[in-house]
Amino acid sequence: MKIAVLAGDGVGPEVVAEAVKVLTALGREGLTLEIEQAPVGGAAYDAAGDPLPPQTLELARKAEAILFGAVGGPRYDAGPRAKRPEQAILRLRKELNLFANLRPAAVFPELADASTLRPEVVSGLDILIVRELTGDIYFGQPRGIRELEGGGREGFDTMRYTESEIRRIAHAGFRAALKRGRKLCSVDKANVLETSQLWRDVVSEVGREYVAVELTHMYVDNAAMQLLKHPRQFDVIVTGNMFGDILSDEASMLTGSIGMLPSASLDENGKGLYEPIHGSAPDIAGKNLANPLAAILSAAMMLRYSLDQDRAAARVEAAVKKVLAEGYRTADIFQRGTRKVGTREMGDAVVAALF
Ligand code: IPM
Ligand code: MG
Repeated sequence: MKIAVLAGDGVGPEVVAEAVKVLTALGREGLTLEIEQAPVGGAAYDAAGDPLPPQTLELARKAEAILFGAVGGPRYDAGPRAKRPEQAILRLRKELNLFANLRPAAVFPELADASTLRPEVVSGLDILIVRELTGDIYFGQPRGIRELEGGGREGFDTMRYTESEIRRIAHAGFRAALKRGRKLCSVDKANVLETSQLWRDVVSEVGREYVAVELTHMYVDNAAMQLLKHPRQFDVIVTGNMFGDILSDEASMLTGSIGMLPSASLDENGKGLYEPIHGSAPDIAGKNLANPLAAILSAAMMLRYSLDQDRAAARVEAAVKKVLAEGYRTADIFQRGTRKVGTREMGDAVVAALF
């Protein structure tokens, strides 16, 4: 099985190295993965003038699955948008049709008081955000910044969703709900936006095919509030690209740290790109400070969803649980009485806990 590893910028290479360490260790048990690395993001721009060089895209296409780190950095923020590191991940998602982004936010009991919310609010929390990933205002045309005739400039983007785009992500949401708590909350802004009205109508229509799932609808502002007020009311949330981007960062904090959350971005056939939801965190890059658990848990999702290795996936997840129970903590989840370790030491601890 061929895996493309695109580590990227900032803490990306550090956390991905730990995930690769874990995957390689599983090789001792007979799981053989052919791992091939390629540059992406700012690193690729520096090397080749392109955040997503053709060879990197080609490798991503050929591979069975892609393990991705993070892209971006302040150095690139002033450049032309088409050359910015973020374009690499946006184009990969679009070119490979990875429309279904699964972002689980579950609270490990050991971390219930690492959240800024009270433990009784977050403990036992287990949410899955299903975020549409290839449409919406992220990709809608027209967009741009133009000079107005009367003087001054105007910036504009276009939020749009076709019925078929909504339908396929709705199905992904319902299917995920069927495998979990059978509750699906669709999040939109139908009180204001036409795009959201269509979203709501289509999701409701698809819902008639899933009588076993309880479907509710919620406006995004209320959903943002409910996530803090009573997050355990949610099982699966299905939402558009931009709302999902925002709500998944918010949900990550319920779990204690954004450094804990993995994600899977899947196409129609289960081919996927796996990445921590956190960014490149340039402020802590290269300091052995980043939490590699989101990347390691992303590798576990890869084993489960793309490589059909449920047992290996469960094993990695159990190892993560074990190191947390043993008290290992990177700085982002450190609390008095636990054991502070760096990125590499955390990776080593997970490898040791596998066997
Ligand atoms: C994410 C990130 C990306 C997004 C950025 C890096 C383009 O925030 O994966 O959530 O907005 O989708
Ligand atoms: Mg984001």
